[in-house]
Amino acid sequence: MTNHRIALIPGDGIGTEVLPAAQQVLDVLGRRHGFGLTYTSYDDWSCERYLREGAMMPADGLDQLRDKDAILLGAVGHPEVPDHVSLWGLLIPIRRGFRQYVNLRPIRVFEGIESPVRTARAGAVDFVVVRENVEGEYSQVGGRFNSGFPDELAVQEAVFTRAGVSRVLDYAFGLAARRGGRLTSATKSNGIVHTMPFWDELVAERASGFPQVAWDQEHIDALAAKFVLEPGRFDVVVASNLFGDILSDLAAAIAGSIGIAPAANLNPERAYPSMFEPVHGSAPDIAGQGVANPLGAIWSAAMMLDHLGHPAAAKDVTDAVAGVLAKTDVRTRDLGGTATTAEFTDKLLELL
Ligand code: NAI
Ligand code: MG
Repeated sequence: MTNHRIALIPGDGIGTEVLPAAQQVLDVLGRRHGFGLTYTSYDDWSCERYLREGAMMPADGLDQLRDKDAILLGAVGHPEVPDHVSLWGLLIPIRRGFRQYVNLRPIRVFEGIESPVRTARAGAVDFVVVRENVEGEYSQVGGRFNSGFPDELAVQEAVFTRAGVSRVLDYAFGLAARRGGRLTSATKSNGIVHTMPFWDELVAERASGFPQVAWDQEHIDALAAKFVLEPGRFDVVVASNLFGDILSDLAAAIAGSIGIAPAANLNPERAYPSMFEPVHGSAPDIAGQGVANPLGAIWSAAMMLDHLGHPAAAKDVTDAVAGVLAKTDVRTRDLGGTATTAEFTDKLLELL
């Protein structure tokens, strides 16, 4: 029997509530599809740890994860820890240290969910945001100067490399070729005059390797408007780190709740483990109440199964998710229901 070594990092807040739900679903699928999952839990890697010991994870954290087949993460973030500390202390080192340069964020409007966007009908909206995940606007190049003086300033450089942009574009074009054959590139080459024209040139260059994909590009501001006005027209949307981050939260809202949205941080070469995590954060406003929507975490676990070579098991999960939403009125609060995390998960397990 194939066995997969999974690292579990629940993190903070609702991360610790949604990850056990995902694990329950995974175990059912392992039994049904005949694969094993061995978990190593890193319950302590969190903002609590940071507050106690001054670091989100141990110094050899990446080495502890290196031999795992995949990482399943909840969320990090705590009201008493600055967000850049929690993000750069755990998530970003893993994404960068393991060269997870593709951040894949699929979105679907499920039957039974009322999107806040009138035109976003079930079945008609089903697309993927491919976000560049290790360079771009989220860079450490820059600094702060003259702290405390009236001439205080901050400089932050965006870093776009030919290799880094090309590989994520190739992944996105390849995905579009396997899906609906359409790709939209998010740009802003009218306002950002160095990096974005470079991005556009590379899009045109890489496109020539995928003649079967019809592609276009939109400035990010207009694209944001089109997400709302015509969400059904997209198939694969490729974007830089910052643009992809924003677009995928917008896409999640169109699907009804950020609590639904999953993400995969992929190292396509499989030289390092990939990491799967819901798009949402630690949600301190609802943490500890047991009411978080576990769907984002559960769908992320399904993406992990797909990555580990179990596409049929992954499809069982998305089918069950679609089933709960279409056939029952069991919903967590963010989707207008009253079910707790546990009640929703039980219903899903029943349908599985
Ligand atoms: P958030 O995603 O935690 O919450 C935004 C809103 O959506 C809140 O009202 C929350 O209650 C709701 N929400 C989120 N997930 C939900 C779920 N599964 N079920 C029901 N409702 C849900 O984003 P926010 O408030 O901007 O950030 C909170 C903390 O999380 C911050 O410290 C932030 O840095 C961190 N964060 C961490 C991320 C990660 O670990 N990947 C991603 C985004 C934020
Ligand atoms: Mg985000």
